[in-house]
Amino acid sequence: MSKTESVATGTANDFGYRTYELGEFAFSRDEFFAHIAWPTGSHVMSIDDFLRAIQRDVAWDFFYGIVNFDAVLGTVNHYGTVDLFAGRFNEAYRSAELDHLENFETPQIRETFKAMLDDWTNSAFDPFASPVETGTPFGAKEGSNTDAVTRRRVAASRMVGVPGDEELRSDTTGHPVNRMFADVPQDEPDIEPEPAFEDRVCAFNLFKYLSRSQVTWNPSVVSVCKDSLYCPTTEEYILPIIHGNDRVEWFVQLSDQIEWTVEDRDTGKLRARVVMKPGDVAAMPSDIRHQGYSPKRSMLLVWENASPELPDLIASGKAPTNPVDF
Ligand code: PHB
Ligand code: FE
Repeated sequence: MSKTESVATGTANDFGYRTYELGEFAFSRDEFFAHIAWPTGSHVMSIDDFLRAIQRDVAWDFFYGIVNFDAVLGTVNHYGTVDLFAGRFNEAYRSAELDHLENFETPQIRETFKAMLDDWTNSAFDPFASPVETGTPFGAKEGSNTDAVTRRRVAASRMVGVPGDEELRSDTTGHPVNRMFADVPQDEPDIEPEPAFEDRVCAFNLFKYLSRSQVTWNPSVVSVCKDSLYCPTTEEYILPIIHGNDRVEWFVQLSDQIEWTVEDRDTGKLRARVVMKPGDVAAMPSDIRHQGYSPKRSMLLVWENASPELPDLIASGKAPTNPVDF
């Protein structure tokens, strides 16, 4: 491990969990909480919320733009380096000059977050699972759940089901139909290619595929066309992060219902509440942050434009913050 990637960790505390340092930030956990301290302040989060948030930040390699763990703590992805901040996008912290931000090479924060997530997750808890489908994150250290916290993210290079690409889901691949999607048809499409196109035409049943997802709030890339990524996901309970966009995102509600709170990305001021029902389409502007609430397991298509040029084009005003004017 190179010097920049070394993880600054202390010995285990009374509860069996190690402490971690990243620049001037210090992290510790006890039976119920994650404690975060920096030179001008400190913060506390319930450990279930903290683990669900850091799990997404790690698995998505800091995602697009800002991953707010809550209204205080979070990361900004600069695609090569990452800011870790406290209060940076919180008007009260900003005006009191109590906010704190440090920039790290991505491998350094990635390795520290990975180590902390693995050490602080007990054997019973899966941070990607719906709260009703996993055990407790609370209490003193009790084993680990490395397989769950290092789960590989599905990322098709062309499309799920294409030979050599991400495989379809079935009982035999270890993906049974979720309890909430028992009514989803499980047939695959008939494909009738013209001669010579037999191995060039592919199709799959996306609803069947999603009905067999074991995780929640974890968009996976199922199809790719240049920078256009289809990232559907199944949702239940609350999106564990508040996502601050650096580009427009489109949402297509494929089933059931999600309520979104949409806030100003920089201040957190409420901008809208959006209730999305099956078939609804929304374009989330690039200057907001959002968090979704799904009272029943639902299917959502997140459509991303992965062009690396977008954040600069938008920040410099060359591209608009909203994709459509009505
Ligand atoms: C988002 O921030 O746009 C997002 C993240 C995870 C999801 C859905 C939406 O599961
Ligand atoms: Fe988002």
